[in-house]
Amino acid sequence: MKRRSFLKTTGYGTAGFLLPGLSFAQGGAGTFNPLKIPGLLTGTSRGSVKHYDLKMQTGLSNFLPGLSTPTFGINGNFLGPTIRFRDGDDVAMHVENTLGEASTLHWHGMHVPAAADGGPHQVVKDGSTWNPEFQIRQKSGTFWYHSHLVSKTGEQVYKGLAGMIIIDDEESRNASIPSEYGVDDIPLVVQDRRFNEDGSFQYLSSHRDIMMGFFADTILVNGTASPYFVPTTKKVRFRFLNGSNARTYNFAFSDDRRFRQLSCDGGFLERHIEMSRLVLAPGERCDIVVDFSDGNPVDLISLPLDGNSPFLPRGMMRNMYQANTPRFNVLAIRPQSNLANSEELPQQLTAMARLDEGGIDRVRAFTLGMAMGMGMMGGGRGPGGGGRGMMRNSGEGEFSINGRSMDMAVINETIPLGSKEIWEITNDTMMMHPFHVHHGQFQVLDRNGVSPSAHERAFKDTVKVGPGEKVRIIMEFEDFSDPNQPYMYHCHILEHEDNGMMGQFVIV
Ligand code: C2O
Ligand code: CU
Ligand code: CU
Repeated sequence: MKRRSFLKTTGYGTAGFLLPGLSFAQGGAGTFNPLKIPGLLTGTSRGSVKHYDLKMQTGLSNFLPGLSTPTFGINGNFLGPTIRFRDGDDVAMHVENTLGEASTLHWHGMHVPAAADGGPHQVVKDGSTWNPEFQIRQKSGTFWYHSHLVSKTGEQVYKGLAGMIIIDDEESRNASIPSEYGVDDIPLVVQDRRFNEDGSFQYLSSHRDIMMGFFADTILVNGTASPYFVPTTKKVRFRFLNGSNARTYNFAFSDDRRFRQLSCDGGFLERHIEMSRLVLAPGERCDIVVDFSDGNPVDLISLPLDGNSPFLPRGMMRNMYQANTPRFNVLAIRPQSNLANSEELPQQLTAMARLDEGGIDRVRAFTLGMAMGMGMMGGGRGPGGGGRGMMRNSGEGEFSINGRSMDMAVINETIPLGSKEIWEITNDTMMMHPFHVHHGQFQVLDRNGVSPSAHERAFKDTVKVGPGEKVRIIMEFEDFSDPNQPYMYHCHILEHEDNGMMGQFVIV
């Protein structure tokens, strides 16, 4: 499609997808770009093991017209390929680091031994290769991988060290759900970025960027600025991954059309749910199916959270937050004129056993804290500065869990192998934190004593905990004991994680 006619039919003018209220001196905004679809990495079989080669590298990317941006990527300049695994496969990952600095690669949401998890202890030094091997032992779903270097996760993910993982199993292969990757099964890695005038990314530039988490004014989807997508089938599955450092999206369609949620983080819901809003916090994933058979153009947008949302910040943080979250466009959707037929979705997607409270071995309490004192306000560093030092320099003013900030040398929790536990996460702050646990998937028992909505009734690994909320999750620690290799739990707002809202547990 020629750009001119596309713009005419969309009626967008030249604003592109920059958020309103923030202007762009560089000019040149207003072009639309076809949505990039990350390549698929399906592995190479050698014997009974599938091998996956991942090279972390630096590069230059073109997001904005006429400007190039220094970036990080995996097997490319920015972000990485979509890794496809099958349940039951034995896999060997070969992660080569050519970044010029240390990093790690963590398989978010995957059930793997702690030594293979890619957390802060599995550092891949510059010039070296890390070769974890594990078996894929989980249900189908949408997962992701990203850098997890201690105190540097936010910066490295922001530069581009992230990608999607798709796991297939018997159930997903046999279900009549759109599943042709790049055709009717579309990854949407949604991120926000700020640019300097020379095209380089701008990262932390004020204390607020750490306190609220880092919000930016330009939306990228799969690394595409102002993207458009042309459906060729009546139904399309979108695999959403909120890969942003801090921004929570409230996805909707500009004509308010309804869509169906199929899954949350760890896999299918029992049945798909019809809805018109999807609130996704950093780290969370969700597959939906949208019907485009009316052929009408429509935009995927993000709306401010409803005024009664439990996830809205409170007090003085609310105004700052609202300034960060106007309505904006995410993806222009322009169906082609002859859409291929799609099958009806199945009535039931999976059978879901709810974990119950019987036979619980232990209840652990976790309180999320953040110091709001003025002591935090000093010591700002320029754009691109590291996160942690900014707060550490000013003494108190850290993010914490149970009053402690992350310390690589401290194991916060020790969990006996075979335990079934309830974790009670209490949010003692004025804003929502998406709480993430490594090792496996959990179920949400309740929020402030109320059972979770149908949207959260599947396996999850990241759960929103609103200000003042207490969320109880339940999970089993059935395997992968290792007294020397901890797993992490943390807030997935990366600036919070980098500044201490993280802890470690071992399974023994
Ligand atoms: Cu997505 Cu501990 O990470
Ligand atoms: Cu993780
Ligand atoms: Cu947080």
